[in-house]
Amino acid sequence: MTERLRGKVAIVAGAGSIGPGWGNGKATATIFAREGARVVCADLNRDAAEETAAIIQNEGGQAFAVQTDVTRADSIADLVGQALGRYGRIDILDNNVGIAEVGSVVDLPEETWERVFKVNVTSAFLAMKHVIPVMQRQFEETGEGGSIINISSIASIRHTGVPYASYSATKAALNHLTRTTAVQYAAQKIRVNAILPGLMKTPMVEHSAGLAQAYGEGDIAAMWKARDAQVPMGHMGEAWDVAYAALFLASDEARYVTGIELVVDGGITLKYG
Ligand SMILES: NC(=O)c1ccc[n+]([C@@H]2O[C@H](COP(=O)([O-])OP(=O)(O)OC[C@H]3O[C@@H](n4cnc5c(N)ncnc54)[C@H](O)[C@@H]3O)[C@@H](O)[C@H]2O)c1
Repeated sequence: MTERLRGKVAIVAGAGSIGPGWGNGKATATIFAREGARVVCADLNRDAAEETAAIIQNEGGQAFAVQTDVTRADSIADLVGQALGRYGRIDILDNNVGIAEVGSVVDLPEETWERVFKVNVTSAFLAMKHVIPVMQRQFEETGEGGSIINISSIASIRHTGVPYASYSATKAALNHLTRTTAVQYAAQKIRVNAILPGLMKTPMVEHSAGLAQAYGEGDIAAMWKARDAQVPMGHMGEAWDVAYAALFLASDEARYVTGIELVVDGGITLKYG
C-alpha cells in the first residue's frame, strides 16, 4: 500500500453494486481505503453499502455504511452529518450514482426522463451543495479544500449506438455542472472533475435489461461480445479502471487538475468523431 490518500476522508455515493461483482463505486471505495482513506460508503441499498464497508474492514481499512437516497436533500444532510460526526472532515466526494434508461426522445415516458435527471444530476447538485461548505470551512482553517469527482459517461459527448436520450443529456449536464463549479471554487482549493467511463463490464450493464435488448435481443453474452468489439483495445474496461482514475483525481498528485473530463474508455471516443 502506498497510502496516496493517507489522512483523507472520502464519501462515495453509490458505493454499493447493483449486483454481484465489482461496480465502479464499490471498486472506488475499496481502492480509496487501500490507499489510506477513511471511507463513508453511501448507498440507497443498505445491504450493498454494508457489503462494501465490510470488504474494506476485512482488508484492515476504515469504513462505515450509511443508507442514503442521494435524490433527497434531507438524506444527503444526514450523510454529511454522519461523516463529520465519525471522521470530522470530508476531503473527497465521489458522486457515482447513476442509472441508464434506454429510450429515444419519442419513446421515453416523461416520468422516466424526470427520474433520470433526479438520480443522475440532482444527486450531484445536492451532494456538492452540502459538501462544498464543509470543504470551504476546511480551506479557511487549514488551507486544504477537497476533491469532488462526478462520474459521467462517454455518452455525454458521443452517440454510443444505444438510444438513451435521458442518460446522455443528464451526463452532459453533469459535465458542465462540473466545469462551472470547478471555476467557482478553484480559489478555495476545491477541485471538481468528471470521469467519463466508456464501455465497462460491470453489474450495472449486466442488469440493465434495456441495454442487453439494445445490443442483442437480451442475450448478455452477445452484448459483452458486441461491446468488446466496439473498443479499439478490443475489450471493455473494468470497474477498477474507473477506480484508479478516481484515485488520481482524489489524490494530491492531481492538485493542479480541475474541471476536466477524464476519459477512461480504451480509445472508443477516438473512433466516434
Ligand atoms: N458500467 C458502465 O459501463 C458505465 C459506463 C459509463 C458510466 N457509468 C457510470 O458509473 C456509475 C455507476 O457505476 P456502478 O458500476 O457503481 O453502478 P451500480 O449500479 O453497480 O452501483 C450504483 C449504486 O448506486 C445505488 N443507487 C441508485 N440510486 C441511488 C440513490 N437514489 N441514492 C443512493 N444510491 C443509489 C445503487 O443501489 C447501486 O448500489 C454511474 O454514474 C454510471 O452512469 C457506468
